[in-house]
Amino acid sequence: MDSHDANRIGAAILLTALAVAGSVWVGRLAVPVAIPLRPAFALPEPPDGAARPSIADALAHADPKAGQALAARSCTMCHSFTKDAPPTVGPDLFGVAGTPIAGIPAYSFSPALSAHRSELWTDEALSTWLESPARFAPGTRMAFPGLPDIRDRAAIIAYLHTLSDGGHLP
Ligand code: HEC
Repeated sequence: MDSHDANRIGAAILLTALAVAGSVWVGRLAVPVAIPLRPAFALPEPPDGAARPSIADALAHADPKAGQALAARSCTMCHSFTKDAPPTVGPDLFGVAGTPIAGIPAYSFSPALSAHRSELWTDEALSTWLESPARFAPGTRMAFPGLPDIRDRAAIIAYLHTLSDGGHLP
């Protein structure tokens, strides 16, 4: 290859680069990249307040019998649900809804859950706890990953509501 060829190759590369740059420029002029002022279609938006369903709403549609079945699968290896049953891995859960957190005298709670002792097991608190025990009380001994679906938590809470002296499954 002599210097003449090298020049020709160099010129060819230069021309190609110019042609590419030029066509990009012409293309931008011909078809401007414009962000539309309005989206082409609107995604449906949930009505106000419906973005995150509340546990009260979920409870309105919850089935305590489904909660009982779910508890049998997810909780009974560590908890009993019958009146005056002794604690197993975790405390007996009969009548727990509405009582003070970590308040059952027969059970030795972790410091993590005991820190919530001034609060009550409201539906809201039970739902947050059951969604992620470790987030509710970091360091808790309840080794349970949590129930991500609010309908599952509502079913279990509806079942817990039936576990009081006046309560019964419908
Ligand atoms: C692997 C065992 C285990 C499983 C499974 C488990 N728990 Fe627990 N649970 C515990 C332990 C241990 C504690 C005590 C936690 C502490 O002291 O930090 C506890 C505490 C609780 C408390 C607090 C009781 C109180 O009086 O303050 C509730 C409510 C509860 N569990 C509900 C449930 C429900 C409902 C399920 C099933 C969805 C479940 N747990 C599954 C072990 C478990």
